[in-house]
Amino acid sequence: MGLRLDIAMILMLFLLKSTGNVQASIFDVKQYGAKANADITQALTKAWKAACASTGQSKVVVPGGTYKLGAVPLEGPCKGPIELQVIGTLQAPEQQSGDSWVSFNHVDFFTLSGSGTFDGQGKIAWGQSECSKNKYCKQLPINIRFNFITNAIIRDITSLDSKEFHINVLGCKNVTFQHVTIKAPETSVNTDGIHIGRSTGIHIIDTNIGTGDDCVSLGDGSRDITVEKVNCGPGHGISIGSLGKFPNEEPVSGVKVIGCTLTNTMTGVRIKTWPASPTGSASDMHFEDIIMNNVGNPIIIDQVYCPWNQCQAKIPSRIKISNVSFINIRGTSKFQEAVKLVCSKGVPCEKVELRDIDLKYNGHDGSSTYHCINVKPTISGKQNPPACTVKA
Ligand SMILES: *[C@@H]1O[C@H](CO)[C@@H](O)[C@H](O)[C@H]1NC(C)=O
Ligand SMILES: *[C@@H]1O[C@H](CO)[C@@H](O)[C@H](O)[C@H]1NC(C)=O
Repeated sequence: MGLRLDIAMILMLFLLKSTGNVQASIFDVKQYGAKANADITQALTKAWKAACASTGQSKVVVPGGTYKLGAVPLEGPCKGPIELQVIGTLQAPEQQSGDSWVSFNHVDFFTLSGSGTFDGQGKIAWGQSECSKNKYCKQLPINIRFNFITNAIIRDITSLDSKEFHINVLGCKNVTFQHVTIKAPETSVNTDGIHIGRSTGIHIIDTNIGTGDDCVSLGDGSRDITVEKVNCGPGHGISIGSLGKFPNEEPVSGVKVIGCTLTNTMTGVRIKTWPASPTGSASDMHFEDIIMNNVGNPIIIDQVYCPWNQCQAKIPSRIKISNVSFINIRGTSKFQEAVKLVCSKGVPCEKVELRDIDLKYNGHDGSSTYHCINVKPTISGKQNPPACTVKA
């Protein structure tokens, strides 16, 4: 009898231990005055402050229901690990100025979880955006910002119809995005899915991104980034850059994009730098096992990236691109230019490898093309279209 009880106890302890957050104190926004269909900016701020000030693990809960939420910065550092679980839908104001809606700042050991939705209500804002014409356009609010967050997990949440980027990651370290959903119409302006800059050890896995701009975009100072099992489309694809627009940019290094599927995106995987840039570098970038379904231009290195002629296109980019591999990339391209490697005349790309490329052109007016300009890649395995048929 006693022995059986002991075994039961041990089993229970084991189960408790393996479920993790045993002792988390709960801070339900309803205890802080939140009501469904009303504005919960105050309630969420108060619940967060209380949780953040408590020692041990804490968990702020937004239960099921729809809530209005104004711009809200949720600040750390906190006294212990903190989680925000969103089960309901949070709605941003339709008209909103400033550069962010929900931001998390300076939090260590943070979890954002729940099946809930961050609805940026961007429809009106997209109509007002000048960002398709002007590279220094006025910023609209980003749905969710992670600023200087360390050791964090973001899982299961949805970002919907953001006014600008959905998610922005700045100055972060060791953050995993898992099973996140990002949704906005193909026609929405500047709605990048996840943008990362000046951050180290960021992992995006099992995530679905359909939006109007890049699915994932990596800005300067992105280091040790993994994008794995991400489905992307519609949108502009997975991009490194654009780099070299501003002075004092940090290098990009260590990027792995693995096991992703892109469907009906404008481009597939792409590295882009502005001409006439300051000196800089992008290195150790690895793209492997990627399926392209009717993707505009599946593989691109573009060092003469100059949308709307906002640059001195004749001066070469000074961003050095090296150690890049594209391995086992297959499927179909919407446009003829399936592979387009256009490196800088000033600093040609180095150590570029292409292995097992199989990209069939979906059109009927010829076959797909493969450009290699200012680069001499290492070629192996299957090459469809034939490698480097266009060299100038
Ligand atoms: C990274 O963050 C996760 C989530 O908080 C944590 O479990 C893990 O220990 C961290 N890794 C390191 C190396 O600190
Ligand atoms: C090339 O990049 C990969 C990561 O993609 C890295 O593991 C490797 O060490 C790099 N090689 C060199 C020679 O820098």
